Amino acid sequence: MLVLSLLTVLATASSSEVEEPIECPTCIHINETCFNVSHVLDLDAPFRNQVVIHKLSMLRADNTLFYAFEPRIEDPEYYKVGFVNLDAQNISGIITSDNPLNFGSFDIDQDNGVIYLGGSEGIYALDTNANKLSSYSSRGDTITDVFFKNNVYFVKYNGHGITVKKGDNFRILLENTPVRLFVINKYDFIVFVNNFGLHVAKGETTRRLSKNAFFRGLAMDLDGNIYAWWIDGIYRVFVDKNLNDSRVIKIADLPKIGALTFDNENNLMFTSSRSLYRLTKVESVCKI
Ligand SMILES: *[C@@H]1O[C@H](CO)[C@@H](O)[C@H](O)[C@H]1NC(C)=O
Ligand SMILES: *[C@@H]1O[C@H](CO)[C@@H](O)[C@H](O)[C@H]1NC(C)=O
Ligand SMILES: *[C@@H]1O[C@H](CO)[C@@H](O)[C@H](O)[C@H]1NC(C)=O
Ligand SMILES: *[C@@H]1O[C@H](CO)[C@@H](O)[C@H](O)[C@H]1NC(C)=O
Repeated sequence: MLVLSLLTVLATASSSEVEEPIECPTCIHINETCFNVSHVLDLDAPFRNQVVIHKLSMLRADNTLFYAFEPRIEDPEYYKVGFVNLDAQNISGIITSDNPLNFGSFDIDQDNGVIYLGGSEGIYALDTNANKLSSYSSRGDTITDVFFKNNVYFVKYNGHGITVKKGDNFRILLENTPVRLFVINKYDFIVFVNNFGLHVAKGETTRRLSKNAFFRGLAMDLDGNIYAWWIDGIYRVFVDKNLNDSRVIKIADLPKIGALTFDNENNLMFTSSRSLYRLTKVESVCKI
């Protein structure tokens, strides 16, 4: 069972309308708003003894959650991607092929229902409508992070910069900068993590927002807000037009978080071990 801890002091009710706080042992506070944490399902995959899930993302058209995880040690692959339909949980599985592809990262082209998967044999595309997996790019490279925004963006193992594939052409952003994890918002601000910490960049200008190099992941909600997570909780990255005014702020204590994403109603969902939880906003003041 997940141990939830209190983050912020209860919002002080105004003297005119004193609201009786409701008891909610399963709630947490995020920025003084109360959220109920409810169990959605347990992911059913051949996990390692210690469950490691690196990334979560929803295929929005049919409410299917995809997740990248580390399979059992005796598995020929060291990373895999599984999926489960949140409306019909019996529709689930693991993306497989004849040879080891070690998909450790992926992202989704929602408009076309294509999942781009990065692994030890470059990038593959899974067309979910045709149920067809095919090689897409960079066959000789190990790809460690993939992002989709009109085009496929990716980083190579131990590489510098972020490569964008536009048709048959490749362009490199942040050419001299090592990048491990990244997301790009709609205004083309790049938030990335490398061995020096968490940064925000626009064009060739970069600002470091945190020296913590161990953020485990980055995710964007449906409004384009950017979140990061680490072993101790969830952080929000505030991106400002003036990069110097950008910040990363811890918003919730959630120990043992695996990965996080947002459902089709923009509720935050996260994993802890093999369990998937959803945060739903509680409209009253709550006592935890
Ligand atoms: C918390 O809420 C206040 C008021 O709505 C807002 O100004 C602030 O940016 C929020 N902080 C975080 C960390 O979300
Ligand atoms: C929180 O969710 C649980 C079910 O997961 C429910 O029983 C409980 O009433 C909810 N509490 C609030 C305050 O919404
Ligand atoms: C999943 O369950 C639903 C309803 O229980 C059923 O109609 C459907 O055929 C099942 N699908 C699979 C792939 O087993
Ligand atoms: C941002 O900070 C850098 C380094 O401290 C400084 O050189 C630059 O002028 C600042 N930019 C703005 C727009 O304030």
